[in-house]
Amino acid sequence: MKRTDIPNGTENAVEVRGLVKHFGETKALDGVDLDVRRGTVLGVLGPNGAGKTTLVRCLSTLLRPDAGTARVAGYDVLAQPRQLRRVIGLTGQYASVDEKLSGRENLYMIGRLLDLSRKDARRRADEMLERFSLTEAAKRPAGQYSGGMRRRLDLAASMIGHPAVLYLDEPTTGLDPRTRNEVWAEVQRMVTEGSTVLLTTQYMEEAEQLAHELTVVDRGRVIAEGRVDELKAKVGGRTLQVRPAEPADLARMVDAIGRAGLDGIAGATADPAEGVVNVPIVSDEQLTAVVALLSSHGITLAGISTHLPSLDEVFLAVTGQKTSAAPAAQANTDAFQEVAA
Ligand SMILES: Nc1ncnc2c1ncn2[C@@H]1O[C@H](COP(=O)(O)OP(=O)(O)OP(=O)(O)O)[C@@H](O)[C@H]1O
Ligand SMILES: [Mg+2]
Repeated sequence: MKRTDIPNGTENAVEVRGLVKHFGETKALDGVDLDVRRGTVLGVLGPNGAGKTTLVRCLSTLLRPDAGTARVAGYDVLAQPRQLRRVIGLTGQYASVDEKLSGRENLYMIGRLLDLSRKDARRRADEMLERFSLTEAAKRPAGQYSGGMRRRLDLAASMIGHPAVLYLDEPTTGLDPRTRNEVWAEVQRMVTEGSTVLLTTQYMEEAEQLAHELTVVDRGRVIAEGRVDELKAKVGGRTLQVRPAEPADLARMVDAIGRAGLDGIAGATADPAEGVVNVPIVSDEQLTAVVALLSSHGITLAGISTHLPSLDEVFLAVTGQKTSAAPAAQANTDAFQEVAA
């Protein structure tokens, strides 16, 4: 059986219900439910310490959950760990390669562990080295690799056996932009070839690029979930951008909107560099009202558009934390409840 085959034809490649894992007082997972539809990428976002790695480790049978259930490719993590391990691939947050072996030997060994024939293991190792731009370094001991090279080797190792379900725990942390793009392309390729991916990340751009759906976790709980556009819509608010035909009208527009006191519109700001005025809005009625107002002032518009908040703004709204590495002082639970409601 190819490892990408999911035996009992389930819709979800990963099904997690009420998963709990405590470390002493720390509730690393505090009742997590999530599904990853087969053939898709689920992005798991969350600030440091949210429980992402703990989730991945539970789903890889590396940690035993205290309560709840999880099925991966139809196998139960507690009852069928051996079968489960055969169909998953894992790239941990911390690269785990044998430093004494060369890159090629590392990959060959993993291929053999996965029951590939010698010939297939060699072929697949070379293929993966090529895909992750490691061919030149293939014969050097992995211990001499740079951080980015190790990570690429680790990713190659996790993909070698065409796993049905691939866990990628912050796969591109510390990679340069070009290499990050390379990894994204390989992840997409794995999905095209039939894998289902659970990806944890701190990079919103990565989530936007790769994930079909997102789950935001914080303090061991799911606090928001949905497609990228759904999450953006839930946070509420869009930015209306109006472009006057005459750039000289910018100040007049800001003034008019400020004075009009339109329902729910606090004001507007000019962006002279872009030649637009930005107006935060929450409804289509407000959009119409702004356009009508400007028209009544005799201002000719060259264009209007609306923009959803960025994923960074969504993350900030639901977790109260910025997406940068710097942790915020306190979680904003009010904002989260608005979204969860
Ligand atoms: N083996 C362990 N023993 C004790 N506490 C642990 C252990 N592993 C994780 N924790 C705690 O559980 C919580 C969740 O940790 P986890 O590593 O899952 O977070 P994370 O979301 O992966 O964070 P990061 O973004 O920093 O990787 C943290 O408070 C962490 O300190
Ligand atoms: Mg982690």
